[in-house]
Amino acid sequence: MPVQFYIPENQVPLEMHKVRVVQKLNLLPVGERLRAIQEAGNNTFLLQNRDIYMDMITDSGVNAMSDLQVASMSIADDSYAGSETWNRLKAAVKEVFGVDNVLPAHQGRAAENILAEAFVKPGMFTLMNFHFTTTKAHITRLGGEVIELVDKKGLIPQSDDPFKGNFDLKKLRATIKEKTPDKIAFVRVESGTNLIGGQPVSLENMLAVCDICHEFGIPSVLDASLLQDNVYFMKVREPRCKYMDTKSIYQLLASRFDIIYFSARKLGFSRGGFILSTDRKWCDQMMEFVPLYEGFLTYGGMEVRSIEAAAQGLLESLDMDYISQGPEFIEYLVKELDDYGVPVIKPAGGLGCHLNCSEIVPDIPHDQYPAAAVGAAVFIAGGIRGMERGTMSEQREPDGTERFAELELLRLAVPRRVFTLSQIKYCADRVKWVWDNRKLIGGLQWTMEPKVLRFFFGRMKEIGYWQEELVAKFRQDFGDSL
Ligand code: F0G
Repeated sequence: MPVQFYIPENQVPLEMHKVRVVQKLNLLPVGERLRAIQEAGNNTFLLQNRDIYMDMITDSGVNAMSDLQVASMSIADDSYAGSETWNRLKAAVKEVFGVDNVLPAHQGRAAENILAEAFVKPGMFTLMNFHFTTTKAHITRLGGEVIELVDKKGLIPQSDDPFKGNFDLKKLRATIKEKTPDKIAFVRVESGTNLIGGQPVSLENMLAVCDICHEFGIPSVLDASLLQDNVYFMKVREPRCKYMDTKSIYQLLASRFDIIYFSARKLGFSRGGFILSTDRKWCDQMMEFVPLYEGFLTYGGMEVRSIEAAAQGLLESLDMDYISQGPEFIEYLVKELDDYGVPVIKPAGGLGCHLNCSEIVPDIPHDQYPAAAVGAAVFIAGGIRGMERGTMSEQREPDGTERFAELELLRLAVPRRVFTLSQIKYCADRVKWVWDNRKLIGGLQWTMEPKVLRFFFGRMKEIGYWQEELVAKFRQDFGDSL
């Protein structure tokens, strides 16, 4: 429960930790920010950290570690095989999920590669509430097809539905019947559905998906990368979870899904990735790929210190004081912006605050990348780095036509325990300025477009001179201030 303030107007989310190590930040003058984003080809992935004030590109591998995590790293055992670190990781997995069978992978997408290699054959389908970029890339690389079955409510940008990541169960059944169970590699539930705004899936919905999978004999897979936020939302939004402790939620899920995998850059606040299963047969089916692509079975390409930190981080994922911090800060930022009229995805989810760029710059067409354009504007306005989660993050169709994203979002991730509330307020302030000056924002066009995962390293330029005009307006409004 959030700590209640005596004076209601003073109510803010209260940190249940204190800061003991800090990193100096730079806030460049606005002209320098313009230079930096243009040199980066208007792709926030290509910005240099020295040019950034608030790095909100992701919560992956950039969450602040706890003192116990840092301490645990000093006892890491780096034996190639049979390391004690691996045993401690397994013990933590057992404590949190109640599961004995664990495979390591060097990060989440490496776990996805193994999963795809083991289950996906050309012409097969994988059904999921929503795709994630790396998941889809591995599946399509192997000739598989992704079918998204999120309930249509999930794609309505502003709503009060508490679980917008839920599957449409009717559609799931109908799709299994239509495609036939033998053609379905697996059904994947993505907790804290990333690309639609970090929206959670209810416990009830997850269990119903597992039941349907068991009925048809199809493997059920949980992508637990954002499960920590999702468990928090189950606790506060789903009546049946209110009196369950967090551990019983994790363990119930592990007992019902055939396979769970996750990025330990998110779940576990560390680096690396893991695949778990209550039933050994699933891990046996994937095991051979670990030494082939990752490393031996007791380190899987990870640095042992990261495994120690992940073990401790997993234990901390049971603690509501820790897992509430991200969602509470995100809710604060979402409310600040929403109250001002800035279109944001609602209700607030996990991971970050998502600006709905189709409404901020409605005149910029999908193929001039409205979310990337707003991303460049937010960087110019405040040295704040977000991540485009719209058409630029999609893959073109095999015939080269552009696939327009369902939602054009700019994600402002809130890495856990990293920013203070004054920085969150600064972020809200600069985004409000962008909103008030949205008419100045124009589109972008490719100057270099890679074929695969283009959003990571593609380069674009502004159409016209709207960025220079935005800088001039900033100078007019802010004078000499940074
Ligand atoms: N699944 C989900 C739901 C994710 O959000 C991510 C990563 C992955 C899998 C892949 O894990 O990065 O360890 O290989 N999401 C990051 C992000 C990149 O910024 O949202 P990874």
